[in-house]
Amino acid sequence: MTQSLGIPSLQRLILVVEDNASVRSVIANALEFEGYETLQARNGKEALALLKRHMPSLILSDINMPQMDGLQFFQAVRRIPRLTAIPFVFLTSHSSSEDIQRGRELGVEDYLTKPIEPEALVRIINARLYRTAAVEAAQVGRAYLETVKVLANAIEGRDRYTRGHVERVTTYALWMAKALGWTDQHIRMLEFGARLHDIGKIVIPGRVLNKPGKLTDEEWRLMRSHTVEGAKMLRGIQHLRPTLPYVLYHHERWDGKGYPEGIGGKEIPIQGRLLALADVYDALTTTRAYHQARTHEEVMEIIRQEAGKHFDPQLTPIFIEVMNRMRARARKKQPA
Ligand SMILES: [Fe+2]
Repeated sequence: MTQSLGIPSLQRLILVVEDNASVRSVIANALEFEGYETLQARNGKEALALLKRHMPSLILSDINMPQMDGLQFFQAVRRIPRLTAIPFVFLTSHSSSEDIQRGRELGVEDYLTKPIEPEALVRIINARLYRTAAVEAAQVGRAYLETVKVLANAIEGRDRYTRGHVERVTTYALWMAKALGWTDQHIRMLEFGARLHDIGKIVIPGRVLNKPGKLTDEEWRLMRSHTVEGAKMLRGIQHLRPTLPYVLYHHERWDGKGYPEGIGGKEIPIQGRLLALADVYDALTTTRAYHQARTHEEVMEIIRQEAGKHFDPQLTPIFIEVMNRMRARARKKQPA
């Protein structure tokens, strides 16, 4: 059993399992030339021993080997929970279509045919690792979004007047960001930020949140604290930090009369200025504890008049155009 010198890094470590010493060394050289580090084993048994101590990012394995062949090795690895996600690439010769068939039945995706061409080897391994990383990133992203949705639902469950508010505000804000040509990354953070914008309401007592009449000064103070409380909750979560401007500034006003900081104009981060439009539009078009729902046309007129007072005067006409366009589109889809 051989092993490359030095401590292999987690990201670029390939386990090469091959009984033929010269094939093994051609492969290891080609990979190391590309900056990969390698672990090497002569059969499945030796490879399993190495896997007790190492976590390679990919396994490249021959099929026909003494002691434990490639497919038996593959099955043994897949039975170990810690190792189930490691991608496998098999080395096979032209004549072994039976092995390929057996491998397919076991869920093996990638094959390299011998004799190995170093360039093709590196290309396939790079592509496989890239694909694995992309799948992992997408899975992590989905998991984040699910967590955020659960948190957002927790607020809605407490506030009977705002059911569906988060979902609708997120939709309106996303339309707006797309109209402004925001990048995918900014749009992604907007989705999180819009869903979490009222997360601080979790700390507001239910009697204040659901009070049908006028709030006292103290109750207003509590209600307004949801921006700062929300920001406090999220500040410690690294991947949610870009959502803070949405949570903290969606109640600021262009004329400086908003809260929590009372900043005005472009001092208010664009995230807050954009979300304020979507948030107010939804609040006015739905029935709340303190008012009945108004029509789309009435709300568009109110928002137009508030440009330069409550809202950013440059964003407002774009918002009105987007909302009118999306409403016309939705109407067209409805059966007459
Ligand atoms: Fe809010």
